[in-house]
Amino acid sequence: MRMVDLIAKKRDGQALSKQEIDFIVAGYTCGDIPDYQMSAWAMAVYFQGMTAEEVSHLTMAMAFSGDTVDLSAIAGIKVDKHSTGGVGDTTTLILAPLVAAAGIPVAKMSGRGLGHTGGTIDKLEAIPGFHAELPIDRFIDNVNTIKAAVIGQTGNLTPADKKLYGLRDVTGTVNSIPLIASSIMSKKIAAGADAIVLDVKTGAGAFMKDIEEARQLAEAMVEIGRNTGRATIAVLSDMSQPLGYAVGNALEVREAIETLRGCGPDDLTRLVLTLGAHMVVLGGKAADYESGYAYLEELIRSGEALQALKALVTAQGGSADVIDNPDLLPQAKHSIPVYAAADGYVHAIQAEEIGLAAMLLGAGRQTKESDIDLAVGILLRKKVGDSVKAGELLAMLHTNQLRVSEVVGKVFAAYDIRDTPCEEPPLICGLVR
Ligand code: URA
Ligand code: CA
Repeated sequence: MRMVDLIAKKRDGQALSKQEIDFIVAGYTCGDIPDYQMSAWAMAVYFQGMTAEEVSHLTMAMAFSGDTVDLSAIAGIKVDKHSTGGVGDTTTLILAPLVAAAGIPVAKMSGRGLGHTGGTIDKLEAIPGFHAELPIDRFIDNVNTIKAAVIGQTGNLTPADKKLYGLRDVTGTVNSIPLIASSIMSKKIAAGADAIVLDVKTGAGAFMKDIEEARQLAEAMVEIGRNTGRATIAVLSDMSQPLGYAVGNALEVREAIETLRGCGPDDLTRLVLTLGAHMVVLGGKAADYESGYAYLEELIRSGEALQALKALVTAQGGSADVIDNPDLLPQAKHSIPVYAAADGYVHAIQAEEIGLAAMLLGAGRQTKESDIDLAVGILLRKKVGDSVKAGELLAMLHTNQLRVSEVVGKVFAAYDIRDTPCEEPPLICGLVR
């Protein structure tokens, strides 16, 4: 087999066989196929697309291109969740203990934040003493005993995806549905998921700006799930503003605790219950979505979900006192307000800009090596649909530096405020299964 022939075949719109796709993925991973040939192939895929079978073969070839996580020592259906990029997306922090309390084993590998997006591991490390690095056998033991563990990525998972994603980033081939769908699903499968709930974001702040594109991506991923034996459901959710009010590590931990107490932000709570209800159905702990939703609401009301967070934190060395008293979380020295300039209504809040503003305060990393400040971030006070008066508080910066005029300007500019009233946008915009 020669790579040049496979590039030409895809360029001419023909489907590649499993053997051909395996050859490409293996050859690129080990370095036999150079970047320039892989770039040409990715561009051919960008223009010609792939059949459902090709996408499934590509997904499995990437999923098994390196180490995989073996969760077979954990009884039960391992249901994973993935969100296609969010700002202030505190959902994992809430969902892990919540669905664990419902009896679903949660063996979660999460990432650190980069750029404008936060990472679950950084957020958890805002809890004093919390260890995200557990040996794999401890990780599995914890899931077997208390149903949940969340650790940082270990091992060399999906090296083919890592390399290809890096290449796509600099060759104009990121925005291809077969390539995005296979990239995301390969990582879930390598991490040991039996079933997957996807949160596909749509709207100005999302990767997929319009709902039709988001739906196509969701359909592609659900089809991969069907073809590879991993039951998959995708929820389409709005990203015309950050989720909840908090953006920043310790601030989001506090918001997660409040949500598990039943007094979190309405949008965050509804999204968590929606994703969680699908997870408990796929995990066999509820007969249908409605009963799953009601079950999770009851686990919040009864305090069992909060108890599950305490168990998770304690088992990984963290101080559970923080959960009873969130004032023990790291706190920034200064609060700096951002005010509205005129009367009006909030039509949108650019999530990416808020994420970048939080990063500039020190909550996120500019590069993989940057140190972060777990205490700092942004608390929004106004959300889409709210009315504002000139001089009213839009958001509060929590910061350890005082020279933040650039950040104040960024947060101010992220708010789209107009004269006309505006409805709160629907949070859940669709379901693909
Ligand atoms: N996220 C991923 O993991 N892969 C893509 O290709 C795009 C977004
Ligand atoms: Ca949030």
